[in-house]
Amino acid sequence: MAREVTHEENGPTILDESDTGDDGKIYVCRCGLSDSKPLCDGSHNATADEEDGVVYKYDGDDPDGERRAIDEIVYERE
Ligand code: FES
Repeated sequence: MAREVTHEENGPTILDESDTGDDGKIYVCRCGLSDSKPLCDGSHNATADEEDGVVYKYDGDDPDGERRAIDEIVYERE
């Protein structure tokens, strides 16, 4: 399983105590689907049934969006 995600940010962000959860830990998103990047917001639950060896794209990088298996993404330039 893997997924293609479009990132628009081009620099780092600083995390601090306000980013900690109730347990005092900071959960960093690694699935790429969080709306609260770099923090995990639970969106990774949508990936639970992804199959090994398949690359997915979620419409709008939205975990509730349509999920398609892709071989490759072809970008059209204007
Ligand atoms: S790991 Fe991405 S939302 Fe949790």
